[in-house]
Amino acid sequence: MVGIDIRECVTPDDFHQCVHLQRRVWRSSDVDVIPPYAYVVTRHTGGFTLGAFAADGQLVGFTRALFACWRGELCYYSNILAVHPEYRNRGIGRRLKLRQREWALARGRDLVIWTFDPLQAVNAHFNLNTLGAIVRNYEVNFFGPPSSSPLHQGLDTDRLVVEWHVDSPRVRRRLGGHRDDPPPAATVVIPRDINVLKVQDPEAARAWQRDVRRQFTELFAASLYAGGVRPSPDGSGYQYLFYQDRV
Ligand SMILES: CC(C)(COP(=O)(O)OP(=O)(O)OC[C@H]1O[C@@H](n2cnc3c(N)ncnc32)[C@H](O)[C@@H]1OP(=O)(O)O)[C@@H](O)C(=O)NCCC(=O)NCCS
Repeated sequence: MVGIDIRECVTPDDFHQCVHLQRRVWRSSDVDVIPPYAYVVTRHTGGFTLGAFAADGQLVGFTRALFACWRGELCYYSNILAVHPEYRNRGIGRRLKLRQREWALARGRDLVIWTFDPLQAVNAHFNLNTLGAIVRNYEVNFFGPPSSSPLHQGLDTDRLVVEWHVDSPRVRRRLGGHRDDPPPAATVVIPRDINVLKVQDPEAARAWQRDVRRQFTELFAASLYAGGVRPSPDGSGYQYLFYQDRV
């Protein structure tokens, strides 16, 4: 996108802009916001934060990655990705993740992991379809008691663990624009817009969470993995696509 520059965040002002943007996107209280010093520590321990800057220097998106070890493999843990609401759906999130991938590859790392709420359809599409990541793990109430963010609306903080195998043929295919999903072995349906449901009918949202949690847990126990998402046949929501063998 013309006029948006992606570069590493390094200055105190960069990190303060990250703090403000996190607050803007999640509307979190102080206790749930990553403080500026944590960005400095991230950088000094092998991690990095990438920012998307408008021509006037305003930060309009960013992603932070910690240097991590997951199941014995050195990797990056992408702890946050946020794009300013007025700048969404212009490819900035994708560009930030592509630069994160280049960063990892340049340092000999093939894996980037992160977590997301399985009920968030936009994130599911972005992570699995656009980026080509896969999911094999479901964490029940990962962050414990509900956070201060109104986006969570009192639901448990269930999360999927995303594995982005950045040098894999699958990721290369997806990033090249190939999104042809093979027939799935199983599917799990989620609502079209959980954020609206959480406000309009919180009990229904909790029921969805319980049901989706049960299905994911059973399918992962059977060694299937989630590798895509598409609109459900009746158009009422989206469905995750599960597979037996790695593609
Ligand atoms: C997730 C997020 C970072 C994406 O940033 P972005 O700059 O809008 O991302 P992009 O423009 O690169 O891609 C967005 C994709 O979502 C799709 N999308 C947007 N609204 C959608 C909807 N309601 N349903 C399904 N897909 C949708 C877009 O079409 C686009 O997909 P495409 O590339 O196939 O067209 C941004 O929405 C955000 O900051 N959300 C709030 C914080 C958050 O959830 N962070 C991620 C935690 S894992």
